[in-house]
Amino acid sequence: MKNRSLISINDYSKEEYLHILDIAEDFEKNPHQKILENHVIATLFFEPSTRTRLSFESAISQLGGKIIGFTDASSSSVSKGETLMDTIKTVANYSDLIVMRHPLDGSARWASEVSNVPIINAGDGANQHPTQCLLDMYSIRKTQGTLENIHIAFVGDLKYGRTVHSLVIALTQFNATFHLVSPEELKLPSVIKKYIKDAGLKYHQYTNMEAIMNKIDILYMTRIQRERFADPMEYERVKNSYILKNKMLENSKPTMRVLHPLPRVNEIEETVDKNPKAYYFQQARNGVYVREALLASILGLK
Ligand code: CP
Repeated sequence: MKNRSLISINDYSKEEYLHILDIAEDFEKNPHQKILENHVIATLFFEPSTRTRLSFESAISQLGGKIIGFTDASSSSVSKGETLMDTIKTVANYSDLIVMRHPLDGSARWASEVSNVPIINAGDGANQHPTQCLLDMYSIRKTQGTLENIHIAFVGDLKYGRTVHSLVIALTQFNATFHLVSPEELKLPSVIKKYIKDAGLKYHQYTNMEAIMNKIDILYMTRIQRERFADPMEYERVKNSYILKNKMLENSKPTMRVLHPLPRVNEIEETVDKNPKAYYFQQARNGVYVREALLASILGLK
């Protein structure tokens, strides 16, 4: 993985995902390894973020690295009309690796084509979120003991949900069965379903989540993302489609865990947070270990 950008979850093989997860496990056990001293990492966030940016910055700090970057493009020369390509070529002069989030699908790939340092895609529009995918896999393996043969339900915005797209693609390597719960308007795109079909795996589509609750190992809730809708009326129609309550978890397997990439709006009631099956805040914590592992691998330090 040395010096390779991570743009799409397809960029890495199954063996490479598993290697990253093993390194992340080591960072969880031994968090203060100062291996990034003498390295500068740029975090360029053209779109808001709490978890992805701060867990990357926490990972960099814990490993002794330096951080440069911006959290809002309006504070950069992009506000004067500088292109993304010129921004990336410039920042590549100042850093060893660039972590980038951008609202346009495909922007991270373009950036990697002009950058002479590796790019990590921290989310590009509705396309991909590969580092979230790796921390989701870490969380699944940690709670289920394996990534193989799981039944997973994805609930909510499967059309625009980049975390869903990346995780579905990754789990096709692990013989998963997919339960896809969404309003008609927000079904998983055909291009992503094709990965499931091509792997010879099964998926089932539903508009209601109650029916699948006793079948699944992982319930992956997602937010209906207002910012992705061109038509505000369409958002209003679907925004309250799914709201998870404690009662709905009563018939689920004792080992079942609820994941959510966060942020949440109202799709999981706050009372669920105390349920032992709720795992989403630990999931967010796992992001630090996984991002430490990625930085170390791409910079050739592990
Ligand atoms: N999961 C995730 O990408 O969260 P942020 O938007 O807060 O980074």
